Amino acid sequence: MTVGPPIQELHFAEAPSVTTPIPGPNSEALLERQRAVDTSAVAYPRSVPIALDEGRGATIRDADGNVFLDFFAGIGVLNVGHSNPHVLRAVHDQTEKLVHTIDFPTEARIEFIERLNDIAPDGLKDHNRVVFGGPSGSDAIEGSIKLAKHNTGRHAMLAFQGSYHGGTAGALSLTGGRKYREGYDPLLPDVTHVPYPYPLHERGDADGENARAVCPASSGECCGDLSCGRALEQVQTAIEDPYAGQPKPAAIWVEPIQGEGGVVVPPAGFLKGLRDVADDNDVMLVFDEIQSGFGRTGQWWASEWAGVTPDAMTMAKGIGGAGLPIGAMMYHEAYDTWEPGGHVGTFRGNVPAMRGGLAAIDYVEEHDLLAHARDLGEYIRDRLREADSGHLAEVRGQGLFVGAEFLDADGEVSKVAKTMVKDVRTYCYERGVLVWKAGRHGNVLRLLPPLVMTRAQAETGLDVVVEAIETQVG
Ligand SMILES: Cc1ncc(COP(=O)(O)O)c(C=O)c1O
Repeated sequence: MTVGPPIQELHFAEAPSVTTPIPGPNSEALLERQRAVDTSAVAYPRSVPIALDEGRGATIRDADGNVFLDFFAGIGVLNVGHSNPHVLRAVHDQTEKLVHTIDFPTEARIEFIERLNDIAPDGLKDHNRVVFGGPSGSDAIEGSIKLAKHNTGRHAMLAFQGSYHGGTAGALSLTGGRKYREGYDPLLPDVTHVPYPYPLHERGDADGENARAVCPASSGECCGDLSCGRALEQVQTAIEDPYAGQPKPAAIWVEPIQGEGGVVVPPAGFLKGLRDVADDNDVMLVFDEIQSGFGRTGQWWASEWAGVTPDAMTMAKGIGGAGLPIGAMMYHEAYDTWEPGGHVGTFRGNVPAMRGGLAAIDYVEEHDLLAHARDLGEYIRDRLREADSGHLAEVRGQGLFVGAEFLDADGEVSKVAKTMVKDVRTYCYERGVLVWKAGRHGNVLRLLPPLVMTRAQAETGLDVVVEAIETQVG
């Protein structure tokens, strides 16, 4: 193996190891200093009160020397692990040579675009362009909004309830979560949010008759899921009904799997149905792969599971390899209509991040991490399903994008269900396992481990998570 060490050698050996109360004294001191100077918008350490010192692979050490198994990966960023030596070497070598280039060509930039093409979904492969507009996922979304407006001459947008697309004004306009938007309205005009299919909360009849009655797809193509049929019907109405009350949109923005919304995996016919409605109406289809992409689901892009090609695809999070910030959008070459300078940004050429991305692609391929993500994801979901809890309503996901939804015994999301995941998270971090939450009501446990987590680590971590569910939720 030439591309870095095997995944077994990437981590702190002793994880999990917690030898102080959480937070320990050094973490407490840093948290105290942070409270004194940092913004009131700081969020993560309020839920997981630790200060961080060093990360390796799927493990992270806090300021007191406690070592955690990381099922969170910096919110789905560190797909090849913390401080992957193969990636760090590439970043380091580049950093010593050249860092900031705006959009002048460099070996790294051109190679990165070429490698993104190699791993592109089928319909985009060899027929795409890649644009770097700024370092974040939100920047990539802003770019996609401009691309759709520029190419269609329309300004309205269609997105989904339960979505998260980022925190800048355009991205926030597409985001469904009220808590992110409140206080900032009005955002961009004429944005419509329609329901995202959520099978757990909208069960149809077993033979799919109800779904076929509403689904715009022909009955042979309808997947038989009622929530999918209803969602597609609303998309079609919003776009095609001359009395829909909103202008025809430039594009549809959709997460192939909703992350923040609760790791909601849409039924089989959903993305294909969107593709058909978009094509019938000359509306662009944009897949937001910022959380679901770059190997997270066991394919390079989550849309590959459905075999559906978008017109444009946003990416960020993991694509800088080592957690270096870089956002990008790949779009079909037919939409490459910008004049020079049509989409700009000072930080659209960070070469170390591109080297990091290249090294990460090599590492994933050399170590067969897509297959590993598929297998380990199945193992994790099976373990979660074994948890003895009357409140565990569903375990779902794809690859290492894992969600477990908790509901009250009567199947409702009440106040009690909302606190369950918090209690699980606290139990876990006190025992050296970092997990996160998601879901419209915070009632979904979300696991996003690095793709380099080993089976042994997952077994140890899941012992703790299952114990947490059984003792904290019941
Ligand atoms: C699906 C999705 N889109 C967009 C974003 C925004 O990315 P960023 O936080 O880098 O701006 C996120 C961030 O979590 C995301 O999960």
